[in-house]
Amino acid sequence: MEIEKIKKQFKKDLESIKDIEKIRIRYLGKKGEIAWAFKQLKSFSLTAKKKIGPELNNLKREIEDLLEKRLKGRSNQQQFSPLYKSLPGKKPEIGHLHITTQAIREIVNVFKPLGFNRVRYNEVEWDYFAFESLNMPKEHPARDEWETFFIQDLSNPKKGKAVITPHTSSGQVREMLKGELPIRMLNLSRCGRREININHIPSFYQFEGLVIDKGINITHLRGLLDYFAQNFFGPGRKTRIRPFHFKFTEPSFEIDINCDLCLGKGCRFCKSGWVELGGAGMVHPNVLKFGKIDPCKYTGFAFGWGVERTYMMKSGTKINDIRHLFSNDFRFLEQF
Ligand code: PHE
Repeated sequence: MEIEKIKKQFKKDLESIKDIEKIRIRYLGKKGEIAWAFKQLKSFSLTAKKKIGPELNNLKREIEDLLEKRLKGRSNQQQFSPLYKSLPGKKPEIGHLHITTQAIREIVNVFKPLGFNRVRYNEVEWDYFAFESLNMPKEHPARDEWETFFIQDLSNPKKGKAVITPHTSSGQVREMLKGELPIRMLNLSRCGRREININHIPSFYQFEGLVIDKGINITHLRGLLDYFAQNFFGPGRKTRIRPFHFKFTEPSFEIDINCDLCLGKGCRFCKSGWVELGGAGMVHPNVLKFGKIDPCKYTGFAFGWGVERTYMMKSGTKINDIRHLFSNDFRFLEQF
């Protein structure tokens, strides 16, 4: 624990920063240096805790005293100092777009030149569009994979219960039912699932591509995935598909992208040279039928995965926990 370092930095800040409140927040605030140090201390051994704990408390007291002294000194000074009307005012801090918004814009810009129609379907959806019309009848065990939030007391006799949209695939049949063909849809919306860990948060964004036309086959899907990999992640990146199972696509795949550190050779980070991106497949004929499209005439593919996760995998971002994105900690947000 570098108590001396915190102390030194504090003294420097005290000399160079005029706004005492800013210094107070930086050191004594809920997410400040001292709170951070105490948090770290939790993982130390008992003997280390006994030694460092009191030192940290002393430092906290010292900082409080010095700040108070400074505050008193200043108010005395203010009583006598003349008003300098020519002093410039305080500049408001300039913010920037949140990382998720930046990622959404980048993704949309990759698909726009290919003629994809950007849509945003409901955040609260009927069971019918989230599951049933996607070839997952009621009580089907495949539904369990989507840790769904159900909305109590809201249901429709034909469309079932209301849910927080668990995936953007719920936009597929809605788009088909518009009755316009061919389809090139990019549905980018907020979704919700009952999961929280370094890779999952209950409220997140997904994007979903859906292409339906005459003569669409897997090669079109493969080409589009590589196009996305190169334009979003950078040249040298490519994808591969692995067999998987979704009820609404047949065949179904999981898509991997070559690791940005070793470009597919295999390294300590990725092991196999590949990291998982998301799901995809050829639209199941039953789903086309639910969308009132004749599966003998039209075929299509779909793919979809998380916006935040995709952005985290972009080279250079080095974000190792998805929850950072929503912690609203300026020290994190300012880096992007
Ligand atoms: N909706 C699927 C998921 O959330 C991903 C997917 C989209 C799979 C489109 C196939 C086709 O996991």
